[in-house]
Amino acid sequence: MRDAAPATIYLKDYVPFGYLVDEVHLTFDLAPNATLVTSRIAFRPNPDTDNRDFRLNGEGLSLRWAKIDGQDWKPHVRDGILSATPPNPETPFVWEAQVEINPEANTALEGLYLSNGMYCTQCEAEGFRKITYYPDRPDVMSTFTVRINGPHPVLLSNGNPGASGEGFAEWHDPWPKPAYLFALVAGDLVAHSDRFTTVSGREVDLNLWVRPGDEGKCAFGMEALKKSMRWDEEVYGREYDLDAFNIVAVDDFNMGAMENKGLNIFNSAAVLASPETSTDDNFERIEAIIAHEYFHNWTGNRITCRDWFQLCLKEGLTVFRDAQFTSDLRSAPVKRIRDVIELRARQFPEDQGPLSHPVRPESFQEINNFYTATVYEKGAEVIGMLKRLVGDAAYAEALDLYFARHDGQACTIEDWLKVFEDVTGRDLAQFKRWYSQAGTPRVKVEEDWQDGTYTLTLSQVTPPTPGQPDKLPQVIPIALGLLGPNGDEVQPTQILEFTRAQQSFTFEGLAARPVPSILREFSAPVVLERETSPAERAFLLAHDTDPFNRWEAGRTLAEECLLTMITEGAAPDADYLNGLLAVLRDETLDPAYRALMLGLPSQSELAATLHRRGVTPNPQAIWDATETLRQSTAQHLHDLLPRLRAETQVDQPFAPDAAQSGKRALGGAALALLTRLDGGAQATDDYGRADNMTLQLSALSCLLKAGKGQAELAAFYDQWRHDRLVIDKWFGLQVGLASPDKVVETARALTGHPDFNWKNPNRFRALFGPLAMHHAGFHFAGGAAYELLADWLIRLDPVNPQTTARMCSAFQTWRRYDADRQALIAVQLDRILAQPGLSRDTTEMLTRIKG
Ligand code: ARG
Ligand code: ZN
Repeated sequence: MRDAAPATIYLKDYVPFGYLVDEVHLTFDLAPNATLVTSRIAFRPNPDTDNRDFRLNGEGLSLRWAKIDGQDWKPHVRDGILSATPPNPETPFVWEAQVEINPEANTALEGLYLSNGMYCTQCEAEGFRKITYYPDRPDVMSTFTVRINGPHPVLLSNGNPGASGEGFAEWHDPWPKPAYLFALVAGDLVAHSDRFTTVSGREVDLNLWVRPGDEGKCAFGMEALKKSMRWDEEVYGREYDLDAFNIVAVDDFNMGAMENKGLNIFNSAAVLASPETSTDDNFERIEAIIAHEYFHNWTGNRITCRDWFQLCLKEGLTVFRDAQFTSDLRSAPVKRIRDVIELRARQFPEDQGPLSHPVRPESFQEINNFYTATVYEKGAEVIGMLKRLVGDAAYAEALDLYFARHDGQACTIEDWLKVFEDVTGRDLAQFKRWYSQAGTPRVKVEEDWQDGTYTLTLSQVTPPTPGQPDKLPQVIPIALGLLGPNGDEVQPTQILEFTRAQQSFTFEGLAARPVPSILREFSAPVVLERETSPAERAFLLAHDTDPFNRWEAGRTLAEECLLTMITEGAAPDADYLNGLLAVLRDETLDPAYRALMLGLPSQSELAATLHRRGVTPNPQAIWDATETLRQSTAQHLHDLLPRLRAETQVDQPFAPDAAQSGKRALGGAALALLTRLDGGAQATDDYGRADNMTLQLSALSCLLKAGKGQAELAAFYDQWRHDRLVIDKWFGLQVGLASPDKVVETARALTGHPDFNWKNPNRFRALFGPLAMHHAGFHFAGGAAYELLADWLIRLDPVNPQTTARMCSAFQTWRRYDADRQALIAVQLDRILAQPGLSRDTTEMLTRIKG
């Protein structure tokens, strides 16, 4: 039993462990409810500290015996900590122990567990302590030798394969690693295999292990892996370092995937793909996740984190690297726009609400609650800014120095910034505030034009966040270009270093007053506040040479149009509709880019903007305005829609590449508009002819959105009832596309469906994710959605605290809304918090959300 108040861990309290580990030997005797784990671990005193406390973490373990240097030992175990005093703490000693664990009973999916009869592990962040007693902290690194005894055809662990035979296999990982990178897999699996020759000639066996039946969904993931391996050699000079690289797909997994050394474990949704069952977006995401986990081999594994406060050291950098990879393989502007849409949808609400925390947090109760959009995505943005400030050449040099200096070490953000300081001679003390100050800076822009001199005055304010009432100015790289009255660029992109609370930048010798294109490529994760006319936005939408800002101009036009519709009951703005029409007509523009132009700010984003401007958002009014604008857009583009459809037909065999997926995205967006005009005739036809999941789902979505498609929905279920990943889509679709007044009843009915295996995180999220994301439905008057979600969080928490805690973020924006809604939500937050034995994960999340 845990104490009533979970303990808070602080970055400032970091102390090194008293011992170094030279070798870890583990033997697993697998049995579903009584697996034996026998460990032999060589410790020696850590010369960097005099602290000789010998404390090992362990949770839910039955200790059978323990020995130190061969002598039986009776350690003291309490609250997940085993303490012992080694007889001679100043000399090396060998710890041995045997514990019994119960993988079958492990529904939390952390430690060693069973998924469809297959053994697998998830140790990051602190799951290894559920496997055996160990200093479960990332700064303790060791080589691992593992023997697995079990009747399973496939027995895997980290590193290189050793001896194997009937009922056993041995593995040795020569690279010292923290325990969070340990992995084990055992089961009846089949491999999709390939080979890769590294730049220096090492032959690597590549295997993607799946359950029998999934073999046909491996080819794309394997290609993505090989591309990632080559790209990391070419762009970062990083070569793979083992003889084997194994990827395993598992159905029950809390997150996307895990970078265990040489044995990546993936949520099957993040790796299995086929044209018939996966959308273009699925393919792109899978490619990025494979790359992400592979890139961790250097940024995360070879160089790891000193402690969990440094999580962004590996995650921010690895997200940044996988985004570079996607930009290189596909379209850089499209990738950037999609990332910014995601950042605004997921990171901004976090940064601007009660869960706001610095990219490097300073305290936590449950580290699993800090695998957040802030640590990952804002962490990646911070690296992008650093690269912009120092330039590409210095960035490359700094990275080389980072790998050379810190290979094999467990590092901090200070180590990371120091390589940039050493390479460039810059002082990054102020820049470091990006890691320590939470919240999204707001940048206000004022302009002045006099006698041929243009002056841009910027001011920055970061609003208070929990525990941080006052903020200091940050270093904000502002990419700026200036356009002349005819749309020509009179000042190409330059980076303004905006470091003070207020700062002016002047540009002389201009023939006419320019139009500024500010924050090109979204050069910093800030909110830009600038009063401009729709005409100026329309000008940028027509002329900006920066593709990101051209899109942004259209986005802002759309947003301002929606906001005036919401707050003043205005009609849709002609500048927006005409500007959009012109862009969509331009066949020289990438279809993927034009599809993005057709997007609107999400309803949640509109609510956030209203709230920032002091207006209480009304979710139904936001829904209505969005629907009205969509309808007007369909009418305005009426003549163009058939042409867009014709232009985006794909005649080649299916390929999930940038070119084809861009066409399908634009064709799908055109179909959605067309469905508003033709009542679903075209979508019904398309559904009947669809020969890949992207087209099938796009047609079905249009029909459901129009309140039709029940026959197709049933046929879809019959067609795909044996494919769990497609059935996840089937669940999500119905909730996500229901009208606001029908969302709760749809979701509730689906919870009673025989396929609603709520203990499977993918299935739980398939239903409740879209419920929480359906802005007008989740906040529909009366609060029934709040109650339904709370009921299920209460049910899931004892089974799987991690997934429960993540879903709690559905409530993070609650203070934006009116008093009635806040009261309804407060009731649910309190009801969950009152559950006896509520997990540390969920308790921490809800306590922070309540504020
Ligand atoms: N390191 C993994 C990744 O970024 C995420 C694992 C997080 N797992 C967790 N239980 N918090 O790919
Ligand atoms: Zn990662």
